[in-house]
Amino acid sequence: MYKIAVMPGDGTGPEVVREGLKVLEAVAGKCKFKYETEEFDFGGERYKRTGETLPDSAIEELRKKDAIFLGAIGHPDVQPGILEKGILLKARFALDQYINLRPVKLYPGVETPLKDKGPKDIDFVVVRENTEGLYVGAGGTLKQGTPDEVAIQTSVNTRKGVERCLRYAFEYTKKRNKAKTLTLCGKTNVLTFAFHLWERAFHEIGKKDYPDIKRDYAHVDATCMWMVKNPEWFDVIVTDNMFGDIITDLGAMIQGGMGIAAGGNINPEGVSMFEPIGGSAPKYTGKNVINPLAAVSAMGMMLDTLGETKAALMVEKAVMTVTGTKLKSLSAGKMGYSTTEVGDLVCEMLDKK
Ligand code: IPM
Ligand code: MN
Repeated sequence: MYKIAVMPGDGTGPEVVREGLKVLEAVAGKCKFKYETEEFDFGGERYKRTGETLPDSAIEELRKKDAIFLGAIGHPDVQPGILEKGILLKARFALDQYINLRPVKLYPGVETPLKDKGPKDIDFVVVRENTEGLYVGAGGTLKQGTPDEVAIQTSVNTRKGVERCLRYAFEYTKKRNKAKTLTLCGKTNVLTFAFHLWERAFHEIGKKDYPDIKRDYAHVDATCMWMVKNPEWFDVIVTDNMFGDIITDLGAMIQGGMGIAAGGNINPEGVSMFEPIGGSAPKYTGKNVINPLAAVSAMGMMLDTLGETKAALMVEKAVMTVTGTKLKSLSAGKMGYSTTEVGDLVCEMLDKK
């Protein structure tokens, strides 16, 4: 019996989570596994009511779960940063979800802005370090508000943190078993302290424990260039927190946009959290027009991480059938179907071979 925490969150979060749960129920019936859900109402509305983001007591509750399914965080009435830091980043850090796994895969029938590229060209995975780097909040300001103001923001890279991320990426590349190529994305020509550590650890671990995995390196700026020009060159990319944040937005765009991009915040030894990576889309809230496929895919990733591999594959195939044979577009309001209808379509397609 899997214990799943559900955090629908803000904006269109609840609408897309509902479709994810609908597909979960359908696939659980077919694959014969059991689960129970508990809903948590953290998000902008609760913050406005109580001033609470994600209290420590909630972290303790979440820690007892097998997985967390998250909708979206972000509210137009709340100053940017409060909910992101207080909920999303807090969960990632407190639950030590040290991997942010973001597949970049162009599904059939989905339009990419890249000319002459198709599903066979765009299929790679980004492994983003999720608990260190520029995100730790190390730094400070001096003489704020004066002409002499100083702002310092430090990237923290620990051997342990880098190594566990790299090991996860090597293992993932091995298990994925495609081109067996792991690309380290960094900036060794400028950020010499941080990325020399990454680079040394990368080659040491690779040479010793993963001799069958080809090691490749690309600077982050070049990575952006190749992602647009030759995305087919990538199999798995591993990178730090900040670069991972940036390149996965680019990745989301080449795979068809925020309507389809999903990610997992993974603690391989603990509880992981899965989310559609698009925002809360306030302007579409409550209109039944938002695309739920990113949330459905995030739920599929959750199943894969829980070990329900067959169910995860069924969900992915069903999503691909829906994009390939049904939807006119992935954009909100232009799909040719409503949010709930798209959820229904995925459920129907679970049976198709
Ligand atoms: C993401 C988001 C977050 C991040 C924000 C909302 C804090 O952009 O999940 O990529 O920067 O990690
Ligand atoms: Mn981001």
